[in-house]
Amino acid sequence: MSRIITKAVFPVAGLGTRFLPATKGIPKEMLPIVDKPLIQYAVEEAVAAGIDTMVFITGRSKNSITDHFDKAYELEKELEAKNKTELLKLIRDIVPPHVSCVFIRQSEALGLGHAVYCAKPVIGDEPFAVILADDLIEDADRGCMAQMVELYEQKNTSILGVERVDPSETASYGIVKTGESSEKSAPIEIIVEKPKPEEAPSNLAVVGRYILTPAIFDKIEKSGRGAGGEIQLTDAIADLLNDEQVLAFEFEGRRYDCGSKLGFLIATVEHGLLHKELKDDFLDYLKKLTKKF
Ligand code: UTP
Repeated sequence: MSRIITKAVFPVAGLGTRFLPATKGIPKEMLPIVDKPLIQYAVEEAVAAGIDTMVFITGRSKNSITDHFDKAYELEKELEAKNKTELLKLIRDIVPPHVSCVFIRQSEALGLGHAVYCAKPVIGDEPFAVILADDLIEDADRGCMAQMVELYEQKNTSILGVERVDPSETASYGIVKTGESSEKSAPIEIIVEKPKPEEAPSNLAVVGRYILTPAIFDKIEKSGRGAGGEIQLTDAIADLLNDEQVLAFEFEGRRYDCGSKLGFLIATVEHGLLHKELKDDFLDYLKKLTKKF
């Protein structure tokens, strides 16, 4: 059966100011959690959801992302010559053969809404997924986007992945207020970008996973600069709500906010504790370390 959602957009053109100087020359999405860059986790989640076209919206200093998903002839030859078959497989299997990667340049970092709009020529008139790689989401079962694609197949409407956050943190997120629902998804009534805690309509935050209908492109085109002077995806979604239902979906899985230093460290430690080669030594080390404090 052919899937309805076949394309995923990965906006990777942000400036990554919270990780400077690490992100001066490399994109935030190439920072590794143990031994795999954030963007690879995100692409694997899309592949697990049956998506076969990955659309990267890149900016300055983004060549490393293009290189990461490209064939590395010299490296492969070197590994072949040294008979390092496991490593060879690791770099050859970064994306399965049926998956294609498309790279689009966002010439100026005008905001997430603008980055998504840059994908319009490739997306055309289809619903599509958007994945922000700095929100690393793991679910032992299917993966977050696979859950969302399944829901889209039932509801045929835009869906935003949401999670409850501490009420003091609303100013870091798009925040939604939903109507009543007995299901894990509920229709969104209001969406606001980065409200102060005292102005937030709830503590239900949008966390970097979207399925959007193509109607979003007209809405982005119409929306001006919003919070922080950027063209905000949230403002376009707020406008979309006037015409279409948009669902908030509380997915299964654990989210790591790898756009923040603390979230990145937490993800690194937890993945170190799960890593098949490292976990025992790393756990011993952490036990010894905690005795010191
Ligand atoms: P963020 O709000 O996390 O911004 O963007 P940022 O620039 O990446 O990071 P900080 O806050 O300065 O540290 C959310 C997502 O949108 C992408 C980013 O790459 C990130 O995946 N983005 C943002 C773009 O692709 N283009 C933009 O113009 C802005």
